[in-house]
Amino acid sequence: MEDSILLEVKDLKTFFHTEEGIVRAVNGVSYTLKEGETLGIVGESGCGKSVSSYSVMGLVEMPPGRIHGGEILFRGKDLLKMNDREISAVRGRHMAMIFQEPMTALNPIMTCGDQIREALRIHTRLTKTEQDARILGLLKEVGIPAPEKRMNAYPHELSGGMRQRVMIAIALSCSPSLLIADEPTTALDVTIQAQILELMKELQKKHGMAIILITHDLAVVAESVDRVAVMYAGEIVENAPVREIYRNPKHPYTQALLQSIPELGKRDKKIEAIPGRVPNLMEDIPGCPFANRCKRAMDICRSEKPELKPVGEDHLCRCLLYNDGSDNTR
Ligand SMILES: Nc1ncnc2c1ncn2[C@@H]1O[C@H](COP(=O)(O)OP(=O)(O)O)[C@@H](O)[C@H]1O
Ligand code: SF4
Ligand SMILES: [Mg+2]
Repeated sequence: MEDSILLEVKDLKTFFHTEEGIVRAVNGVSYTLKEGETLGIVGESGCGKSVSSYSVMGLVEMPPGRIHGGEILFRGKDLLKMNDREISAVRGRHMAMIFQEPMTALNPIMTCGDQIREALRIHTRLTKTEQDARILGLLKEVGIPAPEKRMNAYPHELSGGMRQRVMIAIALSCSPSLLIADEPTTALDVTIQAQILELMKELQKKHGMAIILITHDLAVVAESVDRVAVMYAGEIVENAPVREIYRNPKHPYTQALLQSIPELGKRDKKIEAIPGRVPNLMEDIPGCPFANRCKRAMDICRSEKPELKPVGEDHLCRCLLYNDGSDNTR
């Protein structure tokens, strides 16, 4: 079971049609996720991390968004080809998502317990008494102290960390096979961040679900994921097991991201430290989108588009340095 593929995204393109032009937010993204695996999607703000996951969850606002191509295979079935009923059976029952700011995702005028109840009503056939027991069980499971009291609390009465735990409890209520966490700890302070990541790891072990952890902070994924996909300007530029990414980063963008973490475990410096900016996704860039910031850019990089190619075992990279198959590591 562990080695079977849960999710396969193939050449996904999600664009936004705005008055100013077409924003190529996700421009040919491919990756696979095995059952029970954790994938970190990393990259600076504006690289398409959220939109690529919203596309999987069916949460892209259309219009202005539109899927321009690709496949999203969940256990072999293409979500993009399903009718509404089939889709909600998969997306509602097997996938769940948590967000950066639980306050906006939670209903402010409903108690935490009732919000979990709402999810249980949709996903299970439990009686009211069974629901009560399950709500308490879920709150306990996500580490909320005095759950009997907290189930009657409104979101604003809880701390940010506790709210995120409630969001996780809601996500768990349908026993998903895939949990997508979009910057789940970005709004929290460092100690609480570590606790939430630890909780997600525990729950994953217990429930065997796969997780996509989206973050702009490469330090966050170091201890939390099996694989890393690095995104830049709507594309995946590197994809490898997490150890390989840290020991043997190939893409100049990944190398720059890693260099901007002073010491693993210390997060006082953010990846914005890379000089220059993410390009405007409305422009159709002829060559490599990273060329204007890349320390190793060559002339050819401004005219030729690099493709995602193997640069080692189970290691993909999108960079013209490796085009001839040689290992131009540094
Ligand atoms: N509703 C929208 N309309 C137009 N552009 C959008 C919309 N949502 C996202 N985008 C654009 O898509 C790009 C990718 O955004 P996003 O996936 O949120 O980035 P990330 O999560 O990596 O920070 C950005 O350029 C963003 O401005
Ligand atoms: S293709 Fe060229 S510009 Fe792009 S990352 Fe590689 S070396 Fe840098
Ligand atoms: Mg985002």
